[in-house]
Amino acid sequence: MLDLVTPVQGRVAFYDLSRKQESFAEAVVAGLSRTPKSIPSHFLYDAQGSALFDRICALPEYYPTRTEMRILAQSAPAIARLVGPEATLIELGSGSSVKVRLLLDAMTAPSAYVPIDVSGEHLLAAAEALAADYPGLAVAAICADYGDTFPLPETPGRGRQVAFFPGSTIGNLEPDDAERFLSGWARSGVDMIVGVDLVKSRDVLEPAYDDAEGVTAAFSLNLLARANRELSADFDLSAFAHRSRWDEESSRIEIGIESLKDQIVRAAGHSFRFAAGERIETEHSYKYPVAGFQAMAGRAGYRPEAVWVDPDQLFSVHYLKA
Ligand SMILES: C[S@@+](CC[C@H](N)C(=O)[O-])C[C@H]1O[C@@H](n2cnc3c(N)ncnc32)[C@H](O)[C@@H]1O
Repeated sequence: MLDLVTPVQGRVAFYDLSRKQESFAEAVVAGLSRTPKSIPSHFLYDAQGSALFDRICALPEYYPTRTEMRILAQSAPAIARLVGPEATLIELGSGSSVKVRLLLDAMTAPSAYVPIDVSGEHLLAAAEALAADYPGLAVAAICADYGDTFPLPETPGRGRQVAFFPGSTIGNLEPDDAERFLSGWARSGVDMIVGVDLVKSRDVLEPAYDDAEGVTAAFSLNLLARANRELSADFDLSAFAHRSRWDEESSRIEIGIESLKDQIVRAAGHSFRFAAGERIETEHSYKYPVAGFQAMAGRAGYRPEAVWVDPDQLFSVHYLKA
């Protein structure tokens, strides 16, 4: 069993495993000391980062959220049949727990929902809101890195355990890591419903990661603002800029923060030199064709059972059978 750190918040059991994660300070010091500089993408998500991500989801340029929502709304009855009655849904990188409602509404007597996310405050608020709307459902939220190994809490119900990994968050993992990640879940016998962004034209991809209103830029630069808040850093946000580009060869969007001048910044008690034009790499977002993703899932030990794609071929949702 997991340590129940905050026993009951309303109806939500909240397990805080965040102390097992690599600390932000360690990641910043290590990441700014290497060449090229980089900081893992999950540190983009503190309470402010999660709130900014919710704003990104509503932007006209950000097609993934509304497209995946439409696919899920249409395929929910079929997904519910595959999941079966009294199931437990484990959501990886659950954010605001919005999309899962489409599945819960279609499922027969779902017994439990286990959202897992690194952004603790946001996770707890989302889990409480969901628990209030689904009175019969057991809700156990886990603040953790979904890449870490930890036991899942015991949940009621005799149905399947099924992982739900929407938002194309799997695209933030390097392909080898994504395959290893999938094989871990396949080995534990857990089916997976996963949202995967499709390869498409640069004209659609690039604006999705650099919108006209500047919300994506604010989300990116929040990483530096977070370092200022938490690590006594002195990043001047006006001396850095959000950058993103589609790299067709590696089939990924490359996101980073560029220093606009030569400068020295202090963070977590260390000094870091930036040259003008030098970048901190923060995130990759890999895009997969349907067949390419199914092949990877197959190598990981999953059988691709079903896939749904929108009419414009923007996004895919896969049901993988363990
Ligand atoms: C792209 S957002 C997707 C949010 C939501 N699932 C959706 O589809 O709209 C990624 C989510 O995963 C969380 N996240 C990112 N990396 C994570 C990690 N390594 N472990 C746990 N959660 C992570 C973030 O906090 C964020 O809520």
